[in-house]
Amino acid sequence: MYSEKVMDHFTNPRNVGEIENASGVGTVGNAKCGDIMRIYLDIDEDTKIIKDCKFKTFGCGAAVATSSMATELVIGKTIDQALKVTNKAVTEALDGLPPVKVHCSLLAEEAIHAALWDYAQKHGIVIEGLVEPKKDIHEGEE
Ligand code: FES
Repeated sequence: MYSEKVMDHFTNPRNVGEIENASGVGTVGNAKCGDIMRIYLDIDEDTKIIKDCKFKTFGCGAAVATSSMATELVIGKTIDQALKVTNKAVTEALDGLPPVKVHCSLLAEEAIHAALWDYAQKHGIVIEGLVEPKKDIHEGEE
């Protein structure tokens, strides 16, 4: 049912934890299943490159695996490149998810966007193409 990559990132998740004084933090949740994901970003002030990314996910295995893969995909990227790390990109990098679990990967995309939004707010900048998260914990789609 799950790809080897999903099982690998679920059993051995990368970049678990917190970043102290993070450049941006985003927390999102899915009201239906109750799962919550928080992403921390450390963004270089000069180059605007994401130097580090960590996550904490209280959720299902697919949510853990997608958070883990999402952190790997955004580290070393510019803000614009990180915006393109969509749930589709994360799912593809994991060699797919069962259809019933695709909504879990939405949390990863939303958490990255929420963390970037937080970064933009703290620095008084506008990131083109980034829309304001509805609220801190919002009702994700099923
Ligand atoms: Fe809730 Fe996967 S079942 S995020």
